[in-house]
Amino acid sequence: MRTIIAAPEAVPYAKTGGLADVAGALLKEFRNRGEKATLVLPLYETVRKNFRLYRTGRSFVITLGGHSVPGVIWSSDRSPCPAAWFVECDELYNRTELYGTALGDYHDNALRYAFFSKAVLETCLAMDVSPDIIHCNDWQTGLLPLFLRDYYRRKVHFARTATVFTIHNLGYQGLFNKSELRNAGLEWGHFTADKVEFHDMLNFMKAGLVYSDLINTVSVTYAREVLLPENGFGLDGLLKKRKKDLYGIINGIDYAEYDPSSDPFIPKHFSVNDLSGRDYCRRELVKEAGLRDEDRPVAGFVGRLASQKGLDLIGDSIDELIGMGMNMVILGRGEERYQKLLSGFAEGHRGHVSLRIGFEERLARLIYAGSDFFLMPSRYEPCGLGQLLALRYGAVPVVRRTGGLADTITDFDEDPSEGNGFVFDEYSPSALIDAVSRGLDLFADKRRFRDLVVRAMTADFSWQRSADRYLLLYEKALGKVAG
Ligand code: GLC
Repeated sequence: MRTIIAAPEAVPYAKTGGLADVAGALLKEFRNRGEKATLVLPLYETVRKNFRLYRTGRSFVITLGGHSVPGVIWSSDRSPCPAAWFVECDELYNRTELYGTALGDYHDNALRYAFFSKAVLETCLAMDVSPDIIHCNDWQTGLLPLFLRDYYRRKVHFARTATVFTIHNLGYQGLFNKSELRNAGLEWGHFTADKVEFHDMLNFMKAGLVYSDLINTVSVTYAREVLLPENGFGLDGLLKKRKKDLYGIINGIDYAEYDPSSDPFIPKHFSVNDLSGRDYCRRELVKEAGLRDEDRPVAGFVGRLASQKGLDLIGDSIDELIGMGMNMVILGRGEERYQKLLSGFAEGHRGHVSLRIGFEERLARLIYAGSDFFLMPSRYEPCGLGQLLALRYGAVPVVRRTGGLADTITDFDEDPSEGNGFVFDEYSPSALIDAVSRGLDLFADKRRFRDLVVRAMTADFSWQRSADRYLLLYEKALGKVAG
């Protein structure tokens, strides 16, 4: 099957969040199996700086908002089916960040990602590829299924091409003023409630949901939750209409990349057969974070500092958690108000709460490898990768039962023979505190806690199974176009 993965970010090239891990790992899994899959990405500054790319000698011109913008195609290698093609258009992508700076989103994001969505199709034409599947990811690629159906279908290359659209997070939809319609390459005829109009705004995600052949989200539970008004962010009605085309496929993580027995980022390696390296990582983490009382249980948090992640719950319970004898290490960046809130706690609980604003791969992995617990009290969580990494490195997840967290973490007290973490339901500080205190009870019993760590580490959330499911989904999508 000839597959094109259209993504606004993917590891190892460019990353701001989990979508990059998923796009990169899925591609890698497909290619390891010999599938003909190629990723298409914008050529961001960071890609240009850090990777050796090859000229393909092919280019195209796209007219948007009345002016013509050229795109040049670069390749990750010289084979006819390379791992990745990159769309060079310096005026749009050669910037330090992907989507915007601390001051806000780039003002021309509608143009940037409308261009990208067309550029993926133009790349197929220029490289003479007839894809069976174009797999789109999140709002940045939302217009692609629309362009395909309304403008590109008549090209022979796309006569049988099916589109799959993956929702990684419904909370980010790519909403723009309707005055951007022309810049986005759309016509007024598209600006209706059954197409891209959304409360008098232009909605890129909605285009993807309306025009793609099949839709999926990144866990089975989230695929159910998005049909409810409280999680649908205004698109639940549309998703309900497309319910028979909506699937849930849980993400995996790259087990070769994230492997405590060979990870070059952590100070000592370990495995279920010998956890002494984990104890060493724990001591290093305690030292580096400047935590006092080495024996206190350490809870880690790594993630975007956004309201989705349940930071107000952490804020409302942190005094009590520290009072219960816990130490915390937090790594992340994001909304100013959470950075301030957490900085305040780190000041007030010096030696017990350590905060690093930013993102640093090495420290992230040390937190997974050295914490006893890993907190994810998310308000909602389409899949969540942190809990999967925590399991892999033996940090026991404490999570709220939502989205992918509900699908991957089983509560130890509810099911002592299968449990791999601690789970709570209600979005409230007392529910979080209760789950943590159950964890601390077990922590006091060193032998039983160690058994749980081993169980966490033996869980299997590698990509094999999920990649199989994607291939089945692709087959279904193809069937729809053919049939
Ligand atoms: C988004 C979601 C996260 C998911 C990731 C990859 O970042 O918030 O839950 O794991 O996408 O699909």
